[in-house]
Amino acid sequence: MKRLIFATNNRHKLSEAEAILGVGLVTPTDLGIVEDIPETAETLEGNALQKARYVYDIRGLTAHSGVPTFADDTGLEVAALGGAPGVYSARYAGVGCSYDDNCRLLLRNLEGVADRRARFRTVVALILDGNEYLFEGTVEGKIIGEYRGEGGFGYDPIFVPDGFRETFAQMSAEQKNAISHRGRAMANLAEFLKTKNL
Ligand code: IMP
Repeated sequence: MKRLIFATNNRHKLSEAEAILGVGLVTPTDLGIVEDIPETAETLEGNALQKARYVYDIRGLTAHSGVPTFADDTGLEVAALGGAPGVYSARYAGVGCSYDDNCRLLLRNLEGVADRRARFRTVVALILDGNEYLFEGTVEGKIIGEYRGEGGFGYDPIFVPDGFRETFAQMSAEQKNAISHRGRAMANLAEFLKTKNL
């Protein structure tokens, strides 16, 4: 089987992707890439492509050249805020802010707002034989008014997916992965890789 690189150093994402794809993945750290991978684009698609290209290209003169590489980027898009925080989800409350800072700011910005609709959107960019492919996964839901649950990360304690009463933070990892934006995007990637016998 051909090797596959996932351009992330997030161990949580790595194990989730390995479970969905059913293969062991190579990470930037495994390749000796220790610097932060730039993500300075203004869209999720742009950032996912930027990260995948960086890792696919950076070792272009080594044995890793041409190994299929993918990367992901996720944003929370809130309808009443015109799609914010979107691509800025990680640093909504400022560079270096915590998950809690971001959630608090979002709840403050939605105070008195009746329309609570929001969705998580993940874009996965794959580079295979020099060609670029994009996959998407979304989950629709709403932002509630207070924190509920201890699990997950990021905006999980204030996000309730449609069709459920619990927040993502109140679900087990398996429950969340089965319906999550990232889980769906990875499943779409997995489907595609199967058609390429990868
Ligand atoms: P990333 O592109 O996966 O690093 O995600 C960017 C930001 O979106 C994270 O820093 C989190 O704030 C938020 N985020 C991404 N995925 C999730 C999730 O599954 N639950 C809650 N927040 C998330």
